[in-house]
Amino acid sequence: MSHRIMILPGDGIGPEVITQARRVLELVVERASLDVEITQALYGAAAYPEYKRIISDEALSDTFAADAILFGAIGGDAYDALPPEARREGGLLQLRKQMQLFANLRPIVGFRELADASSLKPERLDSVNVLLLRELNGGLYFGQPRGISDTDDGVRFGRNTMVYSELEIERVARFAFELAGARDKRLMSVDKANVLETSRLWREVVTRIGAEEYPGIALDHMFVDNCAMQLAGRPGQFDTIVTENTFGDILSDIGGAVAGSLGMLPSASLSAVGEDGRRKALYEPVHGSAPDITGQGIANPLAAILCVAMLLRHSLERADLAAEVELAVRSTVGAGVRTPDIAASHPTVSTREMGDAVLQRLAETV
Ligand code: IPM
Ligand code: MG
Repeated sequence: MSHRIMILPGDGIGPEVITQARRVLELVVERASLDVEITQALYGAAAYPEYKRIISDEALSDTFAADAILFGAIGGDAYDALPPEARREGGLLQLRKQMQLFANLRPIVGFRELADASSLKPERLDSVNVLLLRELNGGLYFGQPRGISDTDDGVRFGRNTMVYSELEIERVARFAFELAGARDKRLMSVDKANVLETSRLWREVVTRIGAEEYPGIALDHMFVDNCAMQLAGRPGQFDTIVTENTFGDILSDIGGAVAGSLGMLPSASLSAVGEDGRRKALYEPVHGSAPDITGQGIANPLAAILCVAMLLRHSLERADLAAEVELAVRSTVGAGVRTPDIAASHPTVSTREMGDAVLQRLAETV
């Protein structure tokens, strides 16, 4: 079965890290004779001079048709300076919503090899293997009403709405129980049920789905503020975590401090299985466009490369190849090859040299 992969490098350091990720993808595709068709398109501020939009019509329809999208980053000064109409179609939040990519998997794995770059004590790092599932289509990001408006007395107010339907909670809850079932059979649902009604409904629905459909999974609940502290201090206690959109956005960045750098965190955003038996999927590093280091050739490409591993696992169903890529990354940092964000006391390499080092190790195994 052939798979279509769309690559959108985007803004900021996106093109730099995606160039390395693409090299890794191409090596694996060639060595394992995978049946894939790779397309790449301009995206973000780079697409504007030619198309007056952040993505061309053709690339947008290819993106919607793709089985997997490898996405770099969006945002930064050049992007912010574009006229609003240029950003109307094809923005990241819109892609997530229109393709119904509601399940955002953000693994946080502690590499012992990176203990010198992590906020955690080395003995606490070994056991860190958390899968954070962030709901990606609801909550404050999309809730209506929203906006900034004037009152009669001229005082402006801003408003966003945190809203979740029972169906949205059921959908992500089932996904979370399935994930947990394939792991350590422990699920932590994170909410703010002591204050928010959305969270009370969330907790009630997750509890019901667990009791009725997944009695074999140990379900627990935790308030999000406590979870932030626990993730920063003792993340080894968690297996699978499920939470709503905004909480997941914030909690997943804590994972960056734990893993050693945001530059180590990949993510996968998946839809439900469609009528054709396939899921839509978008893979993107958690780090974003990083304007402060753009163009310097020092961005860490490992999150993007780990996105390729996730793509192999979730879209191409090649967990064996995914594991090879992950191993190559691990052994590369283990050998002391470091970009500045994870350098600690090591000498540093460039984005491209990091890519070279991973490719070299991978070429020996796949
Ligand atoms: C993330 C990012 C995005 C989000 C931004 C870039 C819109 O922070 O993927 O975590 O808030 O979802
Ligand atoms: Mg974020």
